[in-house]
Amino acid sequence: MPLLLQVLAVVVLCFGTLVSSATTPSPYKNPIIPGFNPDPSCTRVDDRYFCVTSSFNTFPGIPVYTSRDLIQWEQIGNVFSRPEQLPMMAQEFGFTSGIWASTIRYNDGTFYITTTLVWDKLAQGDPSRWDNLIFTNTDIFANNGNGWSDPIHFSPGFQGYDVSLFWDDDGKTYVQGSHAWRVQPGIWQYEIDLTNGSIWNPEVLWTGTGGIAPEGPHVYKRDGFYYLLIAEGGTGLNHMVTMARSNGSIHGPYVPYENNPVLTNANTTEYLQTVGHSDIFDDTEGNFWAVALATRNATVNYPMGRETVLVPVVWETGQYPLFNPIDPGRVTVNMTGPLPLSLPPLQPPDGAVLSGQDQVITFSPDTPLPRQLVYLRLPDASKYTLAPPSSPDSLCLYGSLANLTGPDGISGTSTWLGRRQQHVQFVAEADMQFDPQVVGEEAGVTVFLQQLQHFDLGVVALGSNGERYVRLRTQTANATNNDMTDPLSSPGMVQLPKGVDKVTLRVEAVNASTYAFSYAEYGSSSYQIVGYGAASEVSGGFTGTIVGIYATGDGKDATVPACFSRFAYYGNQTVY
Ligand SMILES: *[C@@H]1O[C@H](CO)[C@@H](O)[C@H](O)[C@H]1NC(C)=O
Ligand SMILES: *[C@@H]1O[C@H](CO)[C@@H](O)[C@H](O)[C@H]1NC(C)=O
Ligand SMILES: *[C@@H]1O[C@H](CO)[C@@H](O)[C@H](O)[C@H]1NC(C)=O
Ligand SMILES: *[C@@H]1O[C@H](CO)[C@@H](O)[C@H](O)[C@H]1NC(C)=O
Ligand SMILES: *[C@@H]1O[C@H](CO)[C@@H](O)[C@H](O)[C@H]1NC(C)=O
Ligand SMILES: *[C@@H]1O[C@H](CO)[C@@H](O)[C@H](O)[C@H]1NC(C)=O
Ligand SMILES: *[C@@H]1O[C@H](CO)[C@@H](O)[C@H](O)[C@H]1NC(C)=O
Ligand SMILES: *[C@@H]1O[C@H](CO)[C@@H](O)[C@H](O)[C@H]1NC(C)=O
Ligand SMILES: *[C@@H]1O[C@H](CO)[C@@H](O)[C@H](O)[C@H]1NC(C)=O
Repeated sequence: MPLLLQVLAVVVLCFGTLVSSATTPSPYKNPIIPGFNPDPSCTRVDDRYFCVTSSFNTFPGIPVYTSRDLIQWEQIGNVFSRPEQLPMMAQEFGFTSGIWASTIRYNDGTFYITTTLVWDKLAQGDPSRWDNLIFTNTDIFANNGNGWSDPIHFSPGFQGYDVSLFWDDDGKTYVQGSHAWRVQPGIWQYEIDLTNGSIWNPEVLWTGTGGIAPEGPHVYKRDGFYYLLIAEGGTGLNHMVTMARSNGSIHGPYVPYENNPVLTNANTTEYLQTVGHSDIFDDTEGNFWAVALATRNATVNYPMGRETVLVPVVWETGQYPLFNPIDPGRVTVNMTGPLPLSLPPLQPPDGAVLSGQDQVITFSPDTPLPRQLVYLRLPDASKYTLAPPSSPDSLCLYGSLANLTGPDGISGTSTWLGRRQQHVQFVAEADMQFDPQVVGEEAGVTVFLQQLQHFDLGVVALGSNGERYVRLRTQTANATNNDMTDPLSSPGMVQLPKGVDKVTLRVEAVNASTYAFSYAEYGSSSYQIVGYGAASEVSGGFTGTIVGIYATGDGKDATVPACFSRFAYYGNQTVY
């Protein structure tokens, strides 16, 4: 920004007299909320923006992010933070089940989240596969950001997903959703009673332009038109955003836009791919924006999964919105848009970090675990002890009988927790005190996509004389992905000197395709490589990679805990 404009911006900030200079086009980078953060939905309340993303089988679930400038995002809590809200999450099955897309809306003093708990174990046509839910909150920052209600379940059930609310001017409330495949695929709408989840008057609004899986609907009313925005083509390379509108009635007819799709990177060689599943909101200056999901084509597959990107939108009276006027309908890493005035970084009161920034977690008895940390399904609380007298300022994990693959690779839980990989290149480190006495007991760090795809670097007791090793294990689902002729993916093992019971374990994404696993004796900076893993082996599917800490007793409950005094994640901010 030229100096004069900077001065003007300061004047605006101080005196609030000028408005337009706050919307000078500024460069920014996508993704804005990096890492496994698909299906974004956002809304503005006064001068704050709030977004939620899909969390599948992770718990806590449905992270809530806030920002004042659209660039610096802080996770303020999780909608699903108490096991009692959805106890059935413990029985979720497979790796693409759990919480799918949510929509966040604000009406008359209350935030609403509508979302779906999906049961993969049940056939598509089984009505109980789709548990559609409403969560509410009147004070989104209260209770450490975890003050969301218990869910209200739709009644009768809706055999679909991607549910979104709309309040019409006549006082009626509607929900749109994508109906599942065995019924008519398309965008359905019901009237809804938000006090008890009652839905009635089903109607099909639109079936899209012909792409598979019409989904992710949102309705916006503007200048007498009802605009229906949806995603089509499936959430892979053919993903796109399309629109239709109805003149004067929410019930339609919805006439498709002649210039569909309005947003897609399909059939291009853009670095960002799979762009779709969008939501539009306005900013404090009267400009419009859209969020969408995208994947970085850093390797053939994408360890970060589907991430949240931001697109400027121009929406003129009586017209359809134009996404990214500089390069219409496309999204790139390097973007320019009329960002609202940059505000100082939020200063979270409890040591929380802004999304995408480095995070050093130390564990003290007085501080709750950071809200970025997730478990798979519902954790067994007895396996996690924060700061016991014997290990103050540590989180002690008691190894479960199952390792990270779980009892069968698709259900159950094991002892671990972690945070999203948000960068192509990063370093994660864990300081761990662990003195295993029983053969097979193991604890360390993991790079985890799902129960059948993870790399684990652990200290393990092996052998008759209590020898301990640092060992890399790779669990990959597909022989095609698990090319053991590639020396990079061969598991390695290094014996620890006798008496060493505290180590620093380290995972480094040295480039887009390779993780390097190493360790050092605690206090030493001399790291020894144990092995490598190919990033494409912990990528694919609908979720994204989590970097975490774990413990297992290898077939029985462990007899001693592994106590972690530091878990740190450092992202490389210059490599996209
Ligand atoms: C929800 O509340 C409305 C209005 O009180 C009532 O008519 C309807 O029967 C209720 N539905 C259910 C499923 O309880
Ligand atoms: C929308 O409906 C109004 C009122 O019926 C009509 O005047 C207007 O021409 C219509 N606009 C379009 C684009 O069809
Ligand atoms: C991409 O190309 C395929 C094959 O030609 C076509 O079917 C599809 O509609 C295209 N997608 C978009 C969004 O243009
Ligand atoms: C993704 O990147 C790989 C490797 O550079 C390339 O071969 C592939 O064509 C890219 N995919 C798309 C859809 O651009
Ligand atoms: C973004 O722009 C920078 C220069 O500012 C360039 O080095 C980088 O390659 C661009 N990234 C992409 C993905 O195009
Ligand atoms: C997990 O445990 C199962 C059953 O004992 C074993 O077959 C598998 O090799 C273990 N996997 C890892 C990555 O430790
Ligand atoms: C393994 O590969 C098959 C065939 O490509 C695919 O359908 C399946 O989803 C893959 N499984 C996992 C867990 O990635
Ligand atoms: C990534 O790093 C590994 C380990 O140093 C190296 O063998 C590999 O060639 C690198 N790959 C690329 C694409 O640079
Ligand atoms: C980020 O990665 C680049 C390219 O590999 C490297 O030159 C730079 O030193 C890295 N920065 C940090 C902070 O690690």
